[in-house]
Amino acid sequence: MNILQINASARREGANSTRLANTVVQRLEAAHPGARVSLRDLAVTPHPVLDEAALGALFTPADQRSPEQAARVALDDALIAEVQAHDVVVLGVPMYNFGTPVQLKSWIDAIARAGVTFRYTATGPEGLLKGKKVYVALARGGLYRDTPNDSQVPYLKSVLGFLGMTDLHFIYAEGLAMGPEAAAKGFEQAEADLNAALA
Ligand SMILES: Cc1cc2nc3c(=O)[nH]c(=O)nc-3n(C[C@H](O)[C@H](O)[C@H](O)COP(=O)(O)O)c2cc1C
Repeated sequence: MNILQINASARREGANSTRLANTVVQRLEAAHPGARVSLRDLAVTPHPVLDEAALGALFTPADQRSPEQAARVALDDALIAEVQAHDVVVLGVPMYNFGTPVQLKSWIDAIARAGVTFRYTATGPEGLLKGKKVYVALARGGLYRDTPNDSQVPYLKSVLGFLGMTDLHFIYAEGLAMGPEAAAKGFEQAEADLNAALA
């Protein structure tokens, strides 16, 4: 088992989503001795956003790219190769302002590449990152699970599914800003979600 842990909190230290993602990885390692783990902490090595220069680089044929454009595409290539090389992905995902952090969006923008991680066929789109298990460790200050205000989970189901990652397990630590009792309950719920996901 090759596990890729992606930490998407803006915080290097003390992040609840990272704490939860660490727990998921520890439990997977305990269940699968010999599992190998790679860590990408997007607070430590933030991926550049998809801006005009990046789009220009991506849409320039490889043999015509400037050295700067080639270097920019190579950053995305590395993230694609990394996710392709792992069969389990653990995402630590905070909720920021009702959405996913820019750090995670930039990772998704990097790995979504037409003809490489998805393609269009006569019958519709086909995701090419197949056969992976994905655990999403969610950390939230409030309570959103199964409500219309939870735009994160539907978004992640859509975009990861589009890329072929359909075996998704969501682990919710919610209510973390609602006082110590609520926070403790939030982590208990996450533990229950994790037990169910690993059962
Ligand atoms: C900039 C910012 C925006 C936030 N927005 C929300 C929000 O919209 N909904 C929510 O439930 N919690 C929100 N929170 C609380 C975080 O989800 C909570 O603190 C969580 O632990 C953050 O994850 P982290 O500790 O892994 O960084 C926000 C926190 C920050 C710092």
